Amino acid sequence: MKTFFHVQDLGDLNSALEMAKQVKATPFAWKSLGENKTIMLVFFNSSLRTRLSSQKAALNLGMNPIVLNIGQDSWKLETEMGVVMDGDKSEHLREAIPVIASYCDIIGVRSFASLTDRKADYEETVLSQFIEYSHKPVISLESSTVHPCQAFADLITIEEYKKKSRPKVVLSWAPHPKALPQAVPNSFAEWMNAADVEFVITHPRGYELDEKFVRGAKVEYDQLKALEGADFVYAKNWSCPGVSDPSKYGQILSKDMGWTIDEAHMAVTDNAYFMHCLPVRRNMIVSDAVIDSERSLVIPEAANRVVSAQTVMKMMLEDLK
Ligand code: CP
Repeated sequence: MKTFFHVQDLGDLNSALEMAKQVKATPFAWKSLGENKTIMLVFFNSSLRTRLSSQKAALNLGMNPIVLNIGQDSWKLETEMGVVMDGDKSEHLREAIPVIASYCDIIGVRSFASLTDRKADYEETVLSQFIEYSHKPVISLESSTVHPCQAFADLITIEEYKKKSRPKVVLSWAPHPKALPQAVPNSFAEWMNAADVEFVITHPRGYELDEKFVRGAKVEYDQLKALEGADFVYAKNWSCPGVSDPSKYGQILSKDMGWTIDEAHMAVTDNAYFMHCLPVRRNMIVSDAVIDSERSLVIPEAANRVVSAQTVMKMMLEDLK
């Protein structure tokens, strides 16, 4: 595997899920695979889970993880080509990437969407430069449009907890005070479409996700109707994807607290599990009662971030040989 952005990068999904099970059961079984190998974890943005789970996954495989916080540990980096670098950015990605690559075998990159330039965000301009100039395997640790390590962990969690062979999974938009990227819902939609689940998306009008990720999945604008009979409720906020009106890209179109997942919402489900990628704003996205209930999977879901990251790194290490 040379890049990890999309579900297809894993090859056969059922085989990858089987491998994830083995990784979870015996995390230290491949300790020699990463011997004398280094993974560089490059963060342009904050992180708790991705930062820690990626390091833990690398250590389980015997690899040396190095974390680089751009602009804090390093110089501020210019990411656009052809600009006069007379501002506060001291180094260009064009030099920084090959230098970083010379020190490692695999690179993971977190680089969020600008939410101001839809074209650049959806072309993944920063991650594309890492692929082009590093000549090393590259993992998206949440880039402009995708968060595959999260979506893989989400699917692993659903597989572990499902009681039906084909559970109903509902992705529900929920309110948030800040404009957030679409990477998590994009990847969740992509991965649910590839999995054996009945998948429904619900959000206020104007929040339609890009068809590249929705791929014809059912969209139900009536949230309670969407949640009826659900086995898993996956709550997430996202800003306007700008599909029908690019001028609204990245904007907050609604803060309707009626969309907050509370006990009344969960009551119409089939005793569903609650999921969220974290970090979560309590009593904005989800009520205290729901996130603190026995049906909340947010902690096992976060714990599975080690499993998804380790499975991906293992596959990359095997392909390095
Ligand atoms: N879910 C997730 O990616 O968490 P962090 O932003 O803390 O890494």
